[in-house]
Amino acid sequence: METVAPAQFIHVANRHPLSDEERGRLMEAPVFGKVFTDHMARMTWREGEGWRERRISAFGPLPMHPGAAVLHYAQQVFEGLKAYRHEDGSVWLFRPEMNAARLAASARRLALPEVSEEDFLAAVSGLIEADAAWVPSGYGSSLYLRPFLMATEPSLLVQPADTVDFVVTASPVGAYMAAAGEGVSIWVSRDFHRATIGGTGEAKTAGNYAASMLPQGEAAEHGCKQVLFLDAKESRYIEELGGMNVVIVRSDGSVLTPRLSGTILPGVTRDSILTLLRDEGRSVEERDIELSEVIEGIESGEIGEIFACGTAAVVTPIARLVSDDFDVTVADGSAGFVASTVGPRLTDIQYGRAEDPHGWMRRVL
Ligand code: COI
Repeated sequence: METVAPAQFIHVANRHPLSDEERGRLMEAPVFGKVFTDHMARMTWREGEGWRERRISAFGPLPMHPGAAVLHYAQQVFEGLKAYRHEDGSVWLFRPEMNAARLAASARRLALPEVSEEDFLAAVSGLIEADAAWVPSGYGSSLYLRPFLMATEPSLLVQPADTVDFVVTASPVGAYMAAAGEGVSIWVSRDFHRATIGGTGEAKTAGNYAASMLPQGEAAEHGCKQVLFLDAKESRYIEELGGMNVVIVRSDGSVLTPRLSGTILPGVTRDSILTLLRDEGRSVEERDIELSEVIEGIESGEIGEIFACGTAAVVTPIARLVSDDFDVTVADGSAGFVASTVGPRLTDIQYGRAEDPHGWMRRVL
């Protein structure tokens, strides 16, 4: 029987936290995901017992049996969300319930136990509380939370694990890719795909990202920052980048994005951006989009703007699409009007500089 213990994370303070000086140095210009705070949240699930051992304790290595199933079969799912410091010093999360729901959906697909919204929020906010000094205060900086679930049962049997760990780490971060205003070049992968129908494309799971590494290397060889994946069945429709969704703006101001077909990650930023664009009265279409339509639209000028969006990337303008047989520059290659207005509209809400008309923000501290 599953336990129904209240979501209470016991806080065991790190006895050797970094000094103010060391922390300040690490927080000056952190490379995305390379700096971690003093604590982490954790709990463990066992078949027949449910979730137990909720704790927030010192950040450190996770002792793991070399036979742990996650190391062999990648039974793992994760999330990404940010905590924002407002000018009055308060700290807020953005739509964390959506991350909790997506983690649960990803867990179902990977045959992992679900984490309740209550536990998810308690772990994330408890960690932020323990590491409050690590939440940066500059506009554009935030504390990136990385909750993940992994199969820790020592077993080489290909079957759902009977022991699973949920961990949350935190990292002070700035921009993931280019500085705002600069567009990035994108490699369109013809030979490799990220997801197939019935696969794990709409789950946030390690394997999807592992599959994107080789094409990501190919992108780098061609001077590109990211990969745009096409559908695996026909290599005809655009899907998403390695770690973010893609949005197209036509020159008449209407907006187009690939529909959530089952092979695309349902991004929280994607949903928020589309909502803000609809609020502006723009037509927003979610449908299958052919690559040829995109290339022709860029060449004819019908497409005036393309941008990527995600929690890590926020809104990143795309300047160029490149592949073996084309190299097209979107408009004049600089950030377009929509990316440079909707991006700040979203971040203004996140940093408490603008009203929050949809009630997306949750105060933590
Ligand atoms: C995010 O935007 O939170 C992501 O997970 C993308 C990437 C860093 C994996």
